[in-house]
Amino acid sequence: MKRFRAGLWLSLPLLASCMSTHDRTAPSGTEWPALRSPSPRDAAMEARIAGIVAGMTLEQKIGQMTQAEIRYITPDEVRRYYIGSILNGGGSWPGMRKNAKVGDWTALSDSFARAAQATDMKVQIPLIWGTDAVHGHGNVAGATLFPHNIGLGAANDPALIERIGRATAKQVRATGISWVFAPTLAVVENRRWGRSYESYSSDPAIVARYGGAMVHGLQGGLTGDGDVVATAKHFMGDGGTFDGVDQGENRASLRDMIARHGAGYYPALQAGVQTVMISYNSWNDTAAGRDYGKMHGSREMITDVLKGKLGFDGLVVSDWNGIEQVPGCSKPHCAQAINAGIDMIMVPEDWKAFIANTVADVREGRIPMARIDDAVTRILRVKMRAGLFDRPVSASIYNGRADALDASALAREAVRKSAVLLKNDRGLPLRTGQRVLVVGASADSISNQSGGWSLTWQGTENSNRDFATGTTLLAALRQQLGADKVTYSVDGKGVDPSRFDAVVAVLGEAPYAEYHGDVRAPKPVQHSALYPADLAALQAVSGKGVPVVSVLYSGRPTYTNDLINLSDAFVAAFLPGTEGEGLADVLLGGRYDFTGRLSFTWPGSACSTSDGPGNTFQFPRGYGLGYTRHKRLGSLPSPTAPASCETAAR
Ligand code: GLC
Repeated sequence: MKRFRAGLWLSLPLLASCMSTHDRTAPSGTEWPALRSPSPRDAAMEARIAGIVAGMTLEQKIGQMTQAEIRYITPDEVRRYYIGSILNGGGSWPGMRKNAKVGDWTALSDSFARAAQATDMKVQIPLIWGTDAVHGHGNVAGATLFPHNIGLGAANDPALIERIGRATAKQVRATGISWVFAPTLAVVENRRWGRSYESYSSDPAIVARYGGAMVHGLQGGLTGDGDVVATAKHFMGDGGTFDGVDQGENRASLRDMIARHGAGYYPALQAGVQTVMISYNSWNDTAAGRDYGKMHGSREMITDVLKGKLGFDGLVVSDWNGIEQVPGCSKPHCAQAINAGIDMIMVPEDWKAFIANTVADVREGRIPMARIDDAVTRILRVKMRAGLFDRPVSASIYNGRADALDASALAREAVRKSAVLLKNDRGLPLRTGQRVLVVGASADSISNQSGGWSLTWQGTENSNRDFATGTTLLAALRQQLGADKVTYSVDGKGVDPSRFDAVVAVLGEAPYAEYHGDVRAPKPVQHSALYPADLAALQAVSGKGVPVVSVLYSGRPTYTNDLINLSDAFVAAFLPGTEGEGLADVLLGGRYDFTGRLSFTWPGSACSTSDGPGNTFQFPRGYGLGYTRHKRLGSLPSPTAPASCETAAR
């Protein structure tokens, strides 16, 4: 299939400019944009699909709507139950071996694909395997990991995003997989949220500029050897839950839901994204007294808005057991979610019960057959558009090629562009010939450098060796300055900083994903309170007459005035991924300057966790220094952190 009319996806800085080239219906504040699918309706394809659906039994249709997890299903069960899709969750590998090789992935993919082609159906339907390659192919040892989205937002470079999508798609096709659950289009409001780092920005305009770019990068022309099916997620409003509670309640007005949380979807849909994943959150427009309930059960949002007004004609997939959160539903049973418009149910473990329950729901009239036929039609449409009926996934020239996992040069460029220089009163750039002391546990941790969704779901329980590739910042500094010039002390104790020309203190959060990363109110969000060992290491080396350059790995903007005051220079590096050399490049200056600009505001107090009223900011969105953009910062106000934000001023 020819590439979706690339010109159609627009960099949509503001909703007001959010008009597809089809529809000159500029949405008003409380009207959803009127969009139409950019994919030309292929009459021959639709007729072929209708013919296949007409020849399917109810069990075969429901099987096609089922997505099971690879730990909980065998290839022979895929055959016997007519399963349409499988996924590997975070930290799920072939044979549950973290160091599984590319060949192990493709062998498993081939076994599932062959099974799907061996059913007793009149027409065999190819399986599709989905995975969370959200910053490169995170589950696969040896794959280059890119900066997480929060850093990419700071790069402010949509073309870079598209290139990263292209590289990620190749990594994924190397392993026999052809569906990626990305991009996340969340527009984060409260940085307490554990998934803040999966968002490009708190500015809907940046998310809008990136949404279409990542879809194009991942999908390309959809049928090429290096193309995968992309996913706009999580629809809708995942980044706007009250107090940043993951899977919580979004209380936005209709106007705000349309303009802010929908901003990334319009360009992604216009770029031809073929799947949309539903969000766990609920939506309760408290100001208007209108409670839409859980997104997984909202017919208004999924059918009327997404499929109707926004013209989406691909497939809608639920999130991991997301249907159980619909009132009255359970993991294996939710007629309401299917009637709301979900086409494929991600039911990792309880897929057998789901099939039995849903067959009964149809037979007993709780789900109309027309809804089932629509769901299967959409699934087959996506599979045909992706070329799965014409060529097996294994036919890709990238299939089984370990070299396709390597995107280190591009990732290193992305790291350079996503680091933000917050302070440089002295100390940067580092110079060759300098004797440098490096402190901080994160200096030698690819895990802390990469964050969640890295080999494991949480990004924890990994050693540097597990990554099989990548460079810590410590190793990169040794490479660029000379190993004999770099001394490492994890805590800065027992070493005399005055014997050195500069100190680099690498501070960082421990990895996390989803709700594990929530910092629940009323707990203050202050790095030194959450990671006291980092503060201790910095205190051990600060004020000794030698410039201290601090580098912070974090999945969110976090209150750091106390740390910044102990530092002569301070870099917000977010979660750069495996290529620490990109940070060394900008710390040493030379060819590379800092170009990153904050895509979130940076808090001015430990209880300022959103852009809302009453919060104070130390640095605005768009802030970022460089060697040619110098500004002395001096000392910042750093009041003692409150024990609780319940009473403290935000
Ligand atoms: C998770 C996430 C979603 C991911 C899915 C499959 O719970 O919410 O982003 O794609 O499960 O791993």
